[in-house]
Amino acid sequence: MINYKDLGLVNTREMFARAIDGGHAIPAFNSNNMEQLQAIVKAAVEQKSPVILQVSKGARNYANQTLLRYMAEGAVEYAKELGCAHPEIVLHLDHGDSFETCKSCIDMGFSSVMIDGSALPYEENVALTKKVVDYAHQYDVTVEGELGVLAGVEDEVSHAESHYTKPEEVVDFATRTGCDSLAISIGTSHGAYKFTPEQCTRDPQTGRLVPPPLAFHVLDAVMTELPGFPIVLHGSSSVPQEDVDIINHYGGQLPNAVGIPEEQLRKAAKGAVCKVNIDSDSRLAMTAAVRQVLAEKPGEFDPRKYLGPARERAQKLYEHKIVNVLGSNGKLAQ
Ligand code: G3H
Ligand code: 13P
Ligand code: ZN
Repeated sequence: MINYKDLGLVNTREMFARAIDGGHAIPAFNSNNMEQLQAIVKAAVEQKSPVILQVSKGARNYANQTLLRYMAEGAVEYAKELGCAHPEIVLHLDHGDSFETCKSCIDMGFSSVMIDGSALPYEENVALTKKVVDYAHQYDVTVEGELGVLAGVEDEVSHAESHYTKPEEVVDFATRTGCDSLAISIGTSHGAYKFTPEQCTRDPQTGRLVPPPLAFHVLDAVMTELPGFPIVLHGSSSVPQEDVDIINHYGGQLPNAVGIPEEQLRKAAKGAVCKVNIDSDSRLAMTAAVRQVLAEKPGEFDPRKYLGPARERAQKLYEHKIVNVLGSNGKLAQ
């Protein structure tokens, strides 16, 4: 049993309380490899932001969970080396799918876990989430539950359609499970194709797809039911068209990729939403950089020559999210 506090990590409790009071949100960036981790830590240090490093089941399979755990410990030391005396870094399990997975992460030093029972019948979701909370809280590990179903196609997260969270269920769920934060469904979804062209309109000037607005009435109703409770938004990538254009220009094929407009995320972050999950945008930024380098320099075969630019582009993206979308810059405790 390793306690996250011995690794210099923190849980989400205090940073979420400050986010609600301060009208900002904490970035939760998915991390799968060293380059993403370096970029996340550098961006957080540069902008003096708390940050959630989140690791999915797919990431644990890809990178090895022991290695990821040591990388998170290394992230704390790296942040200090970069000049941040008191970094606030959370190591979070994204979309935990069972009690056993959550327990194994808690026992390895994770400071926060998500138990995603959103596809289960309501009572089963309550029972599973409560079981995880009861275990996690013994070690002061915070727990994110989920109510409502997001649409989207990801390796480990796949549902054909979304079902908005029912605001009338949130008080019962939060009270009976004791969860520390709640992911809700208000129209976001995972991946780079969040809406079909049929669900969008077209900007007459640019011809770009314009997605429909998020269901803010659901978020407002949840806030009314659970005032001051930390709300989480998954599937919150914006799918920057600049990255999509570079990818498509250099041989990629991402037709009609579309995400959540940043002004809607800004609005959510000012209210009850205090954790915003972003993965696809980092994938797009890195892929754009790699494609460009390899297309422009066909003789290049040193991975550092394309992963380095990918890392730089990802760092710029993370800083942009922190400063211009979530407002978590300058929000460290000390
Ligand atoms: O919510 C899903 C995240 O984007 C993680 O995706 O399961 O492919 O690692 P992944
Ligand atoms: P995106 O696919 O929109 O980046 O969402 C990531 C996510 O929700 C991770 O849990
Ligand atoms: Zn998610």
